Amino acid sequence: MIVQALKWVGGIDGFLELIDQRRLPAEFVKLQCRSIEQLFESIKTLAVRGAPAIGVSAAYGLVLAMQKLKPADGLEEGLKVLIESAEYLASSRPTDENLSCELERIRKSEEEFVAGQPEATVQELREVALAEANAIYREDVDMCRRIGQNGERFIKKDAGILTHCNAGALATAGEGTALSVMFEAHKNGKKFRVYADETRPLLQGARLTAWELKQARIDVTVICDNMAAYLMKQGRVDAVITGADRIAANGDTANKIGTYSLSILAREHGIPFYIAAPSSTFDLSIKSGAEIPIEQRPADEVTFFGDRRTVPEGVDIYNPAFDVTEAQDIAAIITERGVIEKPNAEAISGHLSDDSQDSR
Ligand code: MRU
Repeated sequence: MIVQALKWVGGIDGFLELIDQRRLPAEFVKLQCRSIEQLFESIKTLAVRGAPAIGVSAAYGLVLAMQKLKPADGLEEGLKVLIESAEYLASSRPTDENLSCELERIRKSEEEFVAGQPEATVQELREVALAEANAIYREDVDMCRRIGQNGERFIKKDAGILTHCNAGALATAGEGTALSVMFEAHKNGKKFRVYADETRPLLQGARLTAWELKQARIDVTVICDNMAAYLMKQGRVDAVITGADRIAANGDTANKIGTYSLSILAREHGIPFYIAAPSSTFDLSIKSGAEIPIEQRPADEVTFFGDRRTVPEGVDIYNPAFDVTEAQDIAAIITERGVIEKPNAEAISGHLSDDSQDSR
């Protein structure tokens, strides 16, 4: 059974239930988010993480923010709270495009509602936000399933697949992106082995990807991040598949720090490198990866390993959370709409504007 990373409980006065991913795999604990401030903190500290899961959670975050509206408040006040809250949540993980995309989607649906029904109440405005957040959730589940189906063919029988960070069910509302491809291949009876990079500094690969794949009974082996080249040299890796946090118009892709070096290693060893991500991860407003903002994280994620300090006091730390893989090193981007082979600006724009593929 695939784990459910997040769930809205109740109606407009309800709350968002999250699996606290900071505590996995040692403890399986659920968190109840009842305010936008609590959700902001949960996103910032990676209790909920992974670009699509953050986007869906933030959509529900706006529903939480609007709970403070009083029935007597006007629509103008309702929209003001919504816009301010969206700006606040967008600042929590600046590299994540799904976050801005889903916040923008709620804002648009609310503005359209107000334009069409200027006499509506804030209660109705809140209902619209919840309905839209629920639609985003359902579409995310469907998107994951389609990505799995579209990418499954890239996993050959008896292959060794390397992945980085966690792009699984914990990172989405559904079955994941990169891991959905693996779950689908597994469902289809293919035998293969996954190498999960441990993914320093926060160990999403070791803690979360290994946990998910083990539950699904997929053969998984954890390696330290600095072992990938050696495995490739040994011929153990037939493909690399990762998720993405933001994809520029030319196909340059931001993902967890360390993904870029894997792409260069893959090129050097003649191994195909695939990105699995929904359409909502593309940011066509930026031309290339050089424009993607890279989130900087606190130093103590590097200076401590668990509770133990591993770096001398007073030493400078640099802790970027993401890096950018160049489009030229990506064999294909797998989306819910299909596959973009050898991604470039033209192929991406054609793929995203093909209405016959629209899932929304
Ligand atoms: O810092 P994180 O754990 O949120 O980083 C997550 C990743 O880099 C994932 O690969 C990406 O968000 C895709 S998740 C489907």
